[in-house]
Amino acid sequence: MNVSDSELVESILIREGYNAIDSPDRADLLFINTCSIREHAEDKVHSLLGRYNIMKKNNPSMIIGVLGCMAQSLKHDILENKPYVDIVLGPDSYRRLPELLNRHKVNNKSLVDTQLSRFEIYDDLFPSRKEGVNAWITIMRGCDKFCTFCIVPFTRGRERSRSINGIVNEVKNAVNNGFSEVTLLGQNVNSYKYKDENFATLLENVAKVSGLKRLRYTSPHPQDISLELLDVMSKYDNICNSIHLPLQSGSDRILKRMNRTYTRKHFIDLAINIRKKLPNAGISTDIIVGFPGETEENFLNTLRVMDEVKFDSAFTFKYSPRKGTKALEYEDQVSEAVKQKRLEELILLQKSHTELRNQSFIGKIEKVLIEKESKRNSSKWAGRTDSNKWVIFDKQNAKIKDIVPVLITQSKDITLHGKIMNKAKAA
Ligand code: 5AD
Ligand code: SF4
Repeated sequence: MNVSDSELVESILIREGYNAIDSPDRADLLFINTCSIREHAEDKVHSLLGRYNIMKKNNPSMIIGVLGCMAQSLKHDILENKPYVDIVLGPDSYRRLPELLNRHKVNNKSLVDTQLSRFEIYDDLFPSRKEGVNAWITIMRGCDKFCTFCIVPFTRGRERSRSINGIVNEVKNAVNNGFSEVTLLGQNVNSYKYKDENFATLLENVAKVSGLKRLRYTSPHPQDISLELLDVMSKYDNICNSIHLPLQSGSDRILKRMNRTYTRKHFIDLAINIRKKLPNAGISTDIIVGFPGETEENFLNTLRVMDEVKFDSAFTFKYSPRKGTKALEYEDQVSEAVKQKRLEELILLQKSHTELRNQSFIGKIEKVLIEKESKRNSSKWAGRTDSNKWVIFDKQNAKIKDIVPVLITQSKDITLHGKIMNKAKAA
């Protein structure tokens, strides 16, 4: 989401006559697009700001800005302790950048706008995209779910969605500009709602855009995955067979405390249904360990759900207390040592599941979209299957953006290896 927002900011600045450059020390403007989701993300911003302050000493006319989710929480700290920061803008205020830059030129004072909006969706602004395979397309902003651990509803505000027309036009534009794949984005992508239209309808409309080779979306909430959505996914070949399904916890008691609105049974049934309707679908997840009050038995229930579902991959986190969220008020916080131990156990289990799922691909022919050269070997390509697994294989005559049939021969760590089949054989 932040990559996508940065592309939006870049397009606003390009209109004003600026150009992106690679070396921050020579920049006239230096913006950090921030994330507040966990303490670690915020720590990174503080250390970056320290570095930029030093750069500014050598280049005093440089304007430093803090954008995005941390703007709100940092605003007082910045005004009081970080005089070298010139502009602070929340995620709904990017449009005001040119105006604030002009005002800053005149009065040289720090300027702040962290107002959240019920309406801002930047529907009319085309992000400035680097050439590539995948285009990110934001379809909705904000979140109304209020999971008790999560800061997003506070930093990003209320849910609002763009029109189907606006989104389809942007997808057409991306395809005309050479993108093979689009990923629809939203904090809560499948609670998309525009007038009477829902996410399944939007997805179907986007899938029909001619020339679009692949369509992905992230991040959905399990509560809003409907049968209708799964039907649309199985009907269109260009919609990828992959779903990110954040579990967070496998314990009903903790799910309730998290305000996740589903039970462990509902989640497992959903995963079974997905694999039934979309054979070979890749399912990835997010899991938090050490949520306040999580007992050893609650944690074991998370491992049990993992054993039942066998996720293809997982993003795993230690619970990070966030100011202003309900979970911070719970008294039974879990110690750092226990969080660390649980995280390690969980990572180990996931590793075995990823290996198991990847092994099941050996001997199969997968359609792989070539995205880049392999980092380790310049004679090989790296691309993704539609179930979202990376595959490495000899380049042969294929080129970036081709979709090629690849016979999977080996699974190493989290990556598959294979060889391109000639098309006749693959058919
Ligand atoms: N602590 C740890 N992980 C968190 N996430 C969101 N908020 C927190 C938090 N306070 C994780 C969730 C979410 C992912 C994007 O980040 O798992 O799905
Ligand atoms: Fe945060 Fe996602 Fe829950 Fe919204 S649905 S509150 S973004 S974890």
